Amino acid sequence: MKITTIILAAGKGTRMRSELPKILHKIANRSLLQHVYDMSRQLESNTIKIVVGHGAELVTETLKDLEADWIEQKQQLGTGHAVQQTIDQFTDSDIVLILYGDVPLLKLATVQQLISNVNDQSLALLTVKLANPSGYGRIVRNDAGQVIKITEEKDATPNEKQINEVNTGIMAVQGEQLKKWLNQLDNSNAQGEYYLTDVIEMAVADQINIITCQPETEDEVLGVNNRIQLSYLERIYQQEQANSLMERGITLKDPMRFDQRGSIESLGQDIEIDINVILEGKNSIGSHVKIGANTQIKNTIIGDHVEILANCVIEDAVIGQGSRIGPFARLRPESVLANDVHIGNFVEIKKSSVASGSKINHLSYIGDTTVGSKVNIGAGTITCNYDGVNKFRTVIEDGAFIGSDTQLVAPVTIGRNATIGAGSTITKDSPENQLTLSRAKQMSLAGWQRPVKQEK
Ligand code: UD1
Ligand code: CA
Repeated sequence: MKITTIILAAGKGTRMRSELPKILHKIANRSLLQHVYDMSRQLESNTIKIVVGHGAELVTETLKDLEADWIEQKQQLGTGHAVQQTIDQFTDSDIVLILYGDVPLLKLATVQQLISNVNDQSLALLTVKLANPSGYGRIVRNDAGQVIKITEEKDATPNEKQINEVNTGIMAVQGEQLKKWLNQLDNSNAQGEYYLTDVIEMAVADQINIITCQPETEDEVLGVNNRIQLSYLERIYQQEQANSLMERGITLKDPMRFDQRGSIESLGQDIEIDINVILEGKNSIGSHVKIGANTQIKNTIIGDHVEILANCVIEDAVIGQGSRIGPFARLRPESVLANDVHIGNFVEIKKSSVASGSKINHLSYIGDTTVGSKVNIGAGTITCNYDGVNKFRTVIEDGAFIGSDTQLVAPVTIGRNATIGAGSTITKDSPENQLTLSRAKQMSLAGWQRPVKQEK
């Protein structure tokens, strides 16, 4: 059984009031269209066709990595017209699945159930009962309860408007039948559009059964038309991710104030996440990790027993087991910390490795540096790695002690167990085991008088 999925994505999305085509707006940092694509990608033997129109160039350019064929609908003359553009894209024996690019939370299980109901005797239609059905196409049934047609809101009689079972727009049809009905569509209706929904009445006339399925929750079939709905679906999506993490043994202090915009590659147990934490990209989190409030973590591997205190920003980093970061620390890309490393407040690390047991506890910038093990870097230490054009490396060997308020002007090496006196500007390599300092000698002037203000 071959499936062709057609994702309708040509609409403008006027109510988004945006320069960006609607389907490029994001939920959890993934475009609406990408959500639909990723879900349908999981169906077996499936080919994906995406109908684009408004902003087609930008859409296809932005999502050029999708394994899908792009079909342009030059004018948006209705959902039926959109599907007509794909008529030579599927074969008679295919099951054709119609999805909307702006309905991002639809679940694979729902689609699979829909597909399992299609054959040459029946068409499967996803419907939902809504407390307020206004705006949607209504599912009209006969006295025996069989679906006989769909009536759009604008074409509905007062009686039909009372029906609260609505069309989600999502359906699965056999290819041969769909081709036949697409060729019969016309636009003699209130909106002068080619309605895909008219195929239902045609199917009934051809004695095809209309099998209706329902999603598990209404949220699955909600579309995005404006930014209020976008934010609503973002929260629904985040809530689902939060629930799944909690089911896997993670404590979230407040699931309403947690955002995951990406994937978790591996996850330990007994992890505690405080409020307002954002996980982006691909992260791995070991067991017994604690993440403090207001922290943003992107593409990072976090070992077991790591503690990240509040207000840290961490990106493309590796944090070894038992290390402690923050509060207010920033780990920039290519920061690789071994086990039991301490990075304290107002410390920025970039493109540097720090070996086990080393401490950089206060107010420092460490960039392009190799820090050995058991190194202690005092408050206010700065690696001067940049001359305005080139970047240079600093090497701080095992056991070194860097006194506070020191500048290490790269390229420079601080030897094993070397000590650097506080307040030094180090421009030359410092030998191991010795004290090196560059500091003007302290002096005191006896009898010196502070200036005093003259009374006028
Ligand atoms: C459609 C259904 C309605 C259903 C509702 C569910 C029809 C005639 N009506 O109505 O029964 O209750 O969806 O949300 O099918 N699109 C195109 N090209 C077009 C027109 C639309 O690609 O020419 C795409 C849109 O981008 C969107 C989807 O099709 O993703 C639905 O279009 P929309 O205009 O929102 O349909 P509705 O009128 O709301
Ligand atoms: Ca709509």
